[in-house]
Amino acid sequence: MPEENISGVVLTFFSTASSVGKTLISVNMASELARQGYRVCLADYDLQFGDVCNYLKLPFERSIKDIIDVMKRNPDASLKDQLTTYRYGTVSFDVVPSPEPMEDAYNVTVEDCKKLIERLRLMYDYVIVDTTSMFSVLNLAMLDLSTIVTFLGVVDFIPTIKNMKMGNDTVKTLNYDTNKIRLVLNRSDAKTRISMDDVERLLGQGFYHVLPNDFQSASESIVTGVPLALSGSDNVLAKEIRVLISRYTNRVYKENADFKQTIYQSANTEYSGKRQNGWLSKLFH
Ligand SMILES: Nc1ncnc2c1ncn2[C@@H]1O[C@H](COP(=O)(O)OP(=O)(O)OP(=O)(O)O)[C@@H](O)[C@H]1O
Ligand SMILES: [Mg+2]
Repeated sequence: MPEENISGVVLTFFSTASSVGKTLISVNMASELARQGYRVCLADYDLQFGDVCNYLKLPFERSIKDIIDVMKRNPDASLKDQLTTYRYGTVSFDVVPSPEPMEDAYNVTVEDCKKLIERLRLMYDYVIVDTTSMFSVLNLAMLDLSTIVTFLGVVDFIPTIKNMKMGNDTVKTLNYDTNKIRLVLNRSDAKTRISMDDVERLLGQGFYHVLPNDFQSASESIVTGVPLALSGSDNVLAKEIRVLISRYTNRVYKENADFKQTIYQSANTEYSGKRQNGWLSKLFH
């Protein structure tokens, strides 16, 4: 069957620390968009330690390496047949699994990875890309070609926050449209002595959205392989993920003057860019 030409939206999940929820949230983003009837592909671009198939309990079939091989051998071949499909009830979406064996990560080039995304966006309404927590050449390429980048962070330890600040400052130097990069705080109410307010002051901006800490729901969804967005769960994390996704689908890449106001209403924070004297800021200046 010929592939359609639809120029899909690319949503990338990025961070400057590991274990901040990139995979959990990207899996849920893919699930919820698929549930809403969109054509969705989730690409696991954590090439060495990808977890998408683990989180979805998908049996390993063909990895990104195999898919790229097919694409190179026969540019006209349908890619749809090469992907792994996740199904839950009537909901389904396709997955590009990370390499297996792991060393195959060295056998795909950044150029190939970019071409694959360009190809996928012609087939799907949404291409979701799960990445790693570094400014690698591959990740920078993904930031470039994305429609929206969700820069996930957590407030736990000083080094994590320092890296979030460095990462956020670095992203700013890339001069993307300000609405393209969305800072999302995950596990917001996890026990920590560092306040979100201090972190926002340090970053010089508020979080676009704030997701709560709910270890039990997050773990259950991983153990069962059923993302929160599909399990019908109405726990606080599932609800807030849905709110985040609705903000993406309603106003994809078209934020405007009420952007900030909306952020703070939704995230229920009281950030003011004028306040600059938090103890955390002093630590870094
Ligand atoms: N909001 C949350 N509340 C509680 N636990 C969470 C939340 N989000 C993620 N987790 C848990 O944090 C752990 C790390 O999540 P995840 O694997 O999605 O992070 P990651 O950023 O993809 O990590 P990596 O950088 O290793 O790929 C998982 O055990 C997950 O269940
Ligand atoms: Mg991950």
